Parts: sequence; structure tokens; C-alpha cells
Amino acid sequence: MDLGLKGKTALVAAASKGLGRAIAEEFAREGSRVALCSREEAAITAAAKEIERRTGNREVLPIAADLATPEGCESFVQLALSRFGAIDILIVNAGGPPPGRFDDLDDAAWQKAVELTLFSAVRLTRMVLPQMRKQGGGSIVYSTSTSVRQPTQYLNLILSNAIRAAVQGMMKTLSSDLAKDGVRVNAVQPGRIATDRLVQLDADTARRQGTSPDEVRRRYESTVIPMGRYGTPEEYAAAVVFIASPKASYIAGVSLQVDGGMLMSMF
Ligand SMILES: NC(=O)c1ccc[n+]([C@@H]2O[C@H](COP(=O)([O-])OP(=O)(O)OC[C@H]3O[C@@H](n4cnc5c(N)ncnc54)[C@H](OP(=O)(O)O)[C@@H]3O)[C@@H](O)[C@H]2O)c1
Repeated sequence: MDLGLKGKTALVAAASKGLGRAIAEEFAREGSRVALCSREEAAITAAAKEIERRTGNREVLPIAADLATPEGCESFVQLALSRFGAIDILIVNAGGPPPGRFDDLDDAAWQKAVELTLFSAVRLTRMVLPQMRKQGGGSIVYSTSTSVRQPTQYLNLILSNAIRAAVQGMMKTLSSDLAKDGVRVNAVQPGRIATDRLVQLDADTARRQGTSPDEVRRRYESTVIPMGRYGTPEEYAAAVVFIASPKASYIAGVSLQVDGGMLMSMF
């Protein structure tokens, strides 16, 4: 299936590794022009080079930017726009807020997480909209989490659960508001996709439960995830790239979970 992504410009936030990295590579494989960012210049440059090498696509632009700051969001969008002259797709993604239970977290921790998870989404959206409207449309995908629908049973991700719910509310409202401008807005929700973030979270859960990270993963795979395994970043990227693409032209306002059947809710 041709997704219609050849020559389109896609901005993929937080993409030196993990989910963002896999999404950026998939866009490059589809022939899109890709701008990707993360805080570490060396890491994002290396990721872009590796994507170029693996896909043969030479239109891959690495940008060092901290998405938890207004300046970082601004330079990501502006540098991408000045190189490519267009923005067709924005994938909103960021590092995850630290794990912790309510009693572990003070105001400073909450504020930092709001800057990273909510305000990066608000600012990136605000900054791409003038260009998308000028072009007559675009596509925005928020990469969120299945925890928006159902927190994990270990209850140690309260920052992520609470603040991503705000992103979800924004996504759903914008999907109606921006339809008139030709901008499609959707979300994709990862369940348990094997990345460094999951290694970090499983280690945190293991410490709290007095067990090992391998045992935490084994429990998820044997009792929580019907497909019996964590997903791969490539499986996740395929869903994001499809929903962002012109081929998904009548899909707006959905939240697609990619979780091996983990969520038990009907909707
Ligand atoms: N993996 C899953 O199954 C899963 C499930 C639910 C939700 N999520 C969420 O999805 C997001 C991505 O997860 P992941 O698994 O891909 O994590 P990851 O493997 O740890 O990768 C995180 C990426 O974000 C970048 N980053 C972190 N903070 C940043 C900042 N302030 N500005 C710009 N870039 C930043 C990192 O690069 P630098 O260090 O160079 O900045 C890195 O490229 C996280 O918010 C995570 O909580 C993941």
C-alpha cells in the first residue's frame, strides 16, 4: 500500500532512540523528508546518520533541542521549516516523566513533568499550525500511552497518567476544531513496547516489589498481555506512520492502542 508519504515533511519529536527513532526511520523509508530532535546533539546526529544509512534517504535532519523549554520547541520547528520549507506531519513525543507514587513527588516534580509532557505538546502544536494552515492542511499525531485509559497496576506512574490525560483532552478537542483547516489530529497509545524507557520502568517496579526486572516483564507477558510479549518499536512505528499518512484521510480524533491486546476495556 502506498501511504502517500513520498516528499512529505514529517517532524518527529524525541527521536534519538526508542519509539521516536523507529517512527522517524519508518517515515524515511516511506520517502518523507524527516526532521528529528532530542536533547543530545551527538545522539540525534548519530540516529539521523543511521536512519540515512538504513533507508538510503538523504533528507534526514537532526536537531538538538530540549522540548521541555519554549526555545527548544521553537528551534525544532523553525530549523525544520527553514530546511524543508513545509510541515505536513507532526509527531508529538517526549521523554517520559520519572516514575513515582503520589507521596514521592513535590510541586517541582509535577511542574517539570507538565513542561515536558503537556507544554511540549501545546507548544509544538501551536508552532506548526500557521504553516499547516498556510499549506491547507496537515496531520498531527500525539504519541501518548495506554495509561490514559487504564493506569498500570503498580500505580507508580502517576505523573504520566495524570498529565497525558490532559494531552488526550487537547487531542480530542483539537481534532474537531482543526478539521475545518484540513488538519487531522489523532493519538496512538503504546502499551508495553521494548525500549530503554521500559527497561527503566521495569527496574523501578522491581525495586518497589522486591523482585527482578526480568520477573516484572515475565509477569506482564504471562498474565497481562494476551499476545504474550512486549511489542517492538517497529510495530509501534507502523501504526503511527499509517495514521499520520494521507492514506488515513478519514480518520480523526481516534486513540489507537498498540498493546498486544493488553487493555480489557471495550472502547
Ligand atoms: N515504550 C513504551 O512502551 C511506552 C509506553 C507508554 C508511554 N511511553 C512514552 O513514550 C515516550 C517515548 O518513550 P520511549 O520508550 O521511546 O523512551 P526512550 O527509549 O527513553 O526514548 C526517549 C527519547 O526522548 C528523548 N528526550 C527525552 N527528553 C527529551 C527532551 N526534554 N527534549 C527532547 N527529547 C527528549 C531522548 O533523547 P535525549 O536523551 O537525547 O533527549 C530519547 O530520544 C515517553 O514519554 C514514554 O513515557 C512509552
